[in-house]
Amino acid sequence: MTPKIAPSLLSADFLHLAQDVEMINNSEADWFHLDIMDGVFVPNISFGFPILQAIKPICKKPMDVHLMIVEPQKFVKEIAAAGAYMMNVHYEACTHLHRTIGAIKEAGMKAGVTLNPHTPISVLEDIIQELDMVLLMSVNPGFGGQSFIEHTVDKTTRLKEMITSKGLNTLIQVDGGVNLETGKRLVDAGADVLVAGNFVFNSPDPIHTIHELKML
Ligand code: DX5
Ligand code: ZN
Repeated sequence: MTPKIAPSLLSADFLHLAQDVEMINNSEADWFHLDIMDGVFVPNISFGFPILQAIKPICKKPMDVHLMIVEPQKFVKEIAAAGAYMMNVHYEACTHLHRTIGAIKEAGMKAGVTLNPHTPISVLEDIIQELDMVLLMSVNPGFGGQSFIEHTVDKTTRLKEMITSKGLNTLIQVDGGVNLETGKRLVDAGADVLVAGNFVFNSPDPIHTIHELKML
């Protein structure tokens, strides 16, 4: 099945952000992947609401917002107001995950839950029926350009089995170290959405690279 491709703007040229947004608009990419980091949940700080608000009017594809922050439930309204289609919160950052998922949907967004590489899929057993998407981290979150953690392929297979056995249609997204080789194995294992930062933006022809990922 053709995967959805969500280029991560974390690897974009921030001095010419509008040009990179236009590139994605003109490509076969499906979503914009937007990585928000707070320097607490992850050891890095990226960007926040002003950037989301600035690009909102020119993004012609849905905004998939990945929150690598503590207490993401505090910002549901702001993320919705910034135009997000999907709000991804980390399982590890949410004490009352069920309540947070409800609030995200009530605000009119799709709800995604992200798992760090060490978090087993079994923690989703009693919440997956409420989710539109599960995001599996295939690197430790915080930075672009890291190496793919191999174990994620097997984790994707097992998550797909869980979703199928429950008769659900929850999407599986994978984020970190995605390229044509890792991407192909992830799609074969059942991934529906591939995030790619470094591989797209540091390639000589990002539009062609997105096309190649789309063909996996
Ligand atoms: C990492 C972010 C990713 C990152 C992926 O913490 O969540 O979305 O931008 O970058 P690459 O594709 O370069 O690993
Ligand atoms: Zn991400």
